Amino acid sequence: MYFPSSAFLYASLALVAPVLACGKKQKVTKLDVDFSTFASSGKSLVSFLNQHELYVSGYQVGSEPLAHTFVKDNVDVQNGALRLKVDGQSGEGDVKSAEIATFASNIRYGTFTTVAKLTPVPGICAGFFTYTDDNNEIDIEALSSYYTKGYGYSVQPGLEFTNQALKPGQKSTNTAVAYNFDPTADFHNYTIVWSAGKSKFYVDGKLRTTFTKNVPKVGASFLWNAWSNGDVNWSAGPPTEDAYTLIKEIHLSYATV
Ligand SMILES: *[C@@H]1O[C@H](CO)[C@@H](O)[C@H](O)[C@H]1NC(C)=O
Ligand SMILES: *[C@@H]1O[C@H](CO)[C@@H](O)[C@H](O)[C@H]1NC(C)=O
Repeated sequence: MYFPSSAFLYASLALVAPVLACGKKQKVTKLDVDFSTFASSGKSLVSFLNQHELYVSGYQVGSEPLAHTFVKDNVDVQNGALRLKVDGQSGEGDVKSAEIATFASNIRYGTFTTVAKLTPVPGICAGFFTYTDDNNEIDIEALSSYYTKGYGYSVQPGLEFTNQALKPGQKSTNTAVAYNFDPTADFHNYTIVWSAGKSKFYVDGKLRTTFTKNVPKVGASFLWNAWSNGDVNWSAGPPTEDAYTLIKEIHLSYATV
């Protein structure tokens, strides 16, 4: 069982619960994955993930300037942590990337915590996010080229929190918050709390940002990925050596529509 060491998750859920209640009691799914139990489980990664209602993605994204492809082989578990690998490369080819996702694609409102250690290799974007489509998406994104320095007026340094625009062509809601630690040195907790009309972002249990604009209202999946498309205004890269985003634990608590 997962019991948060701090009270923040309960506090957050207390806020979510009345919204979910709405006349009838809604079922809340709790999903706790501890990758340190993988080695002794005797399972393949696919069946270990499936048991936890997760799967590994495999598909190509036609991004600019470089395409990237989520490759199943780029996801594994080493030393008790899931590894999302982005292949290092010297050329301009398709960037081999990694992603896992929830089976559930009808999640609406919940708390999503990822315990992760970020890559020191520049040139990738690691994302922990709700996703329906490009206009219904709440993101925590870590840009490994821009942990401490930004890029002109395009990218502020820090951890990126975003509600994507609810309509194509409109402005997303975004802020970057400085890391108050070295995210590549140790595991930290990155949490999204999504409720009706609000998305809240926590790091190590501390509230860093709340958005009330562009909050999705429709059922979503939750995804974890690491990728690069060579766009200097976001992921930068591609990385010149293999870049690993490590995930030790995942704790989800959500209702579905
Ligand atoms: C992150 O969450 C884990 C799991 O609940 C907890 O053991 C750990 O103390 C938390 N770490 C921080 C830095 O908040
Ligand atoms: C990066 O963003 C800036 C500002 O929006 C833009 O002027 C520039 O062309 C972009 N660079 C690339 C390589 O897309």
